[in-house]
Amino acid sequence: MSNQENQINILLMKYRFAMQMLETEIAIFMQEFQMKHGYNPVEHNKVRMKSKRSILEKLERKGYDYTASNILKYIDDVVGVRIVCSFLTDVYDIVNIFRYSQNLIIKEEKDYIKYPKETGYSSYHLIVLVPIDLQTGIEYMDCEIQIRTIAMDFWASLDHKIAYKFKEMIPDEVKKEMYEYSMIMKQLDKKMLTLNETVHKYKGQNKKEFSI
Ligand code: GTP
Ligand code: MG
Repeated sequence: MSNQENQINILLMKYRFAMQMLETEIAIFMQEFQMKHGYNPVEHNKVRMKSKRSILEKLERKGYDYTASNILKYIDDVVGVRIVCSFLTDVYDIVNIFRYSQNLIIKEEKDYIKYPKETGYSSYHLIVLVPIDLQTGIEYMDCEIQIRTIAMDFWASLDHKIAYKFKEMIPDEVKKEMYEYSMIMKQLDKKMLTLNETVHKYKGQNKKEFSI
């Protein structure tokens, strides 16, 4: 094995450690949230590590050689976490949990919900630094966390298949339609949130009536 290959393997091992730390962090906050609020805000979540092939392709796309130091410098999503929530408010609750966590540092935040991408893509992105405690000292690994609602996830998953991967080859009408559907998805999210709040208020009132 070449020295370069060896260094890449060591680096990927460090990313794997960071991924395990993040997985634990998420499992803990979900249980704690459930205990405090009586429901789990996470519909589902997925933690993944980029394959060597897609790391290489991403570096090539950006015009860099496949080396450990370039991975470290230019790729911030070797470890990726996607957290899918029920309601818009859940997204921001989870962002806040990460914000106040002592177990990681937020390096970058992108609110594509307030400011969607021109494709219509909506999601809250965090790049976090996850400390891993090695025998040689603490190292901080970049990880990407995407937090979004089920509606945003539905749009993004289909967009990934229909448009995102094809980029320039997409006809303008398709782009325009995808953007329109993202607006519909946004309205749906707001309506569902309002419905949920209405039901909760209603439940609250009934509780009072019953307790008299
Ligand atoms: P990268 O070089 O790909 O990391 O881009 P970036 O650093 O500018 O990050 P950005 O926050 O724009 O996007 C990172 C990730 O968000 C991508 O890898 C996708 O998973 C997702 N994403 C961004 N834009 C879109 C989009 O238009 N459609 C879909 N489906 N996903 C998107
Ligand atoms: Mg990125």
